[in-house]
Amino acid sequence: MPGTSLDSLLSRFHPDTGAIDGAPTVTRRLSDLGGCFADPSAWTAVLSKGDPIVYTVTAMEPAGDEGDLHYGLGRIMPGCVGAEYFMTKGHFHAWRPAGEFYFGLEGEGLMLLEDGATGESRIVPLRPHHAVYVPGNTAHRTINTGSVPLAYLGVYPARAGHDYAAIATRNFRCVVIEQNGAPTMVQRKDLP
Ligand SMILES: [Fe+2]
Repeated sequence: MPGTSLDSLLSRFHPDTGAIDGAPTVTRRLSDLGGCFADPSAWTAVLSKGDPIVYTVTAMEPAGDEGDLHYGLGRIMPGCVGAEYFMTKGHFHAWRPAGEFYFGLEGEGLMLLEDGATGESRIVPLRPHHAVYVPGNTAHRTINTGSVPLAYLGVYPARAGHDYAAIATRNFRCVVIEQNGAPTMVQRKDLP
């Protein structure tokens, strides 16, 4: 700690733009999310009118030593593909025991959590003044169910890593769709 520079202790994040000063931003457009949405024809129909940004993630990852922490700023745009809301790809942590805290900053959404051992699925509200705990060995996806961008922070162990492939090959067991004007979780296998 003595002699540590202020730059390594302080960073500034911007929920309104999705930026963290000095950190790289990854932008995911609709075309990057093939296979994520339950209705491929709806995905193609939206894409035929353009290729909107669905979300950005900016990660502040200063060091990767045992015990260190990283954080990310996510920002998901409002929108739908068919009845399914704009959302992130979702992931497990490559180091499965790693948990994560998500803090809602702006907008209104949900986290879809799927237990890696039992397959049990839960949806948990994510909005300002809400902190969502993602236990270890849990696949997690963030969903914007509102009409404005959903911004949030995620804080995770530096060694957590991201495993997108495990969930990309089979997708989440459940899907969150708008039904009668409200977000509703349904089993993927029960979709028409
Ligand atoms: Fe994560």
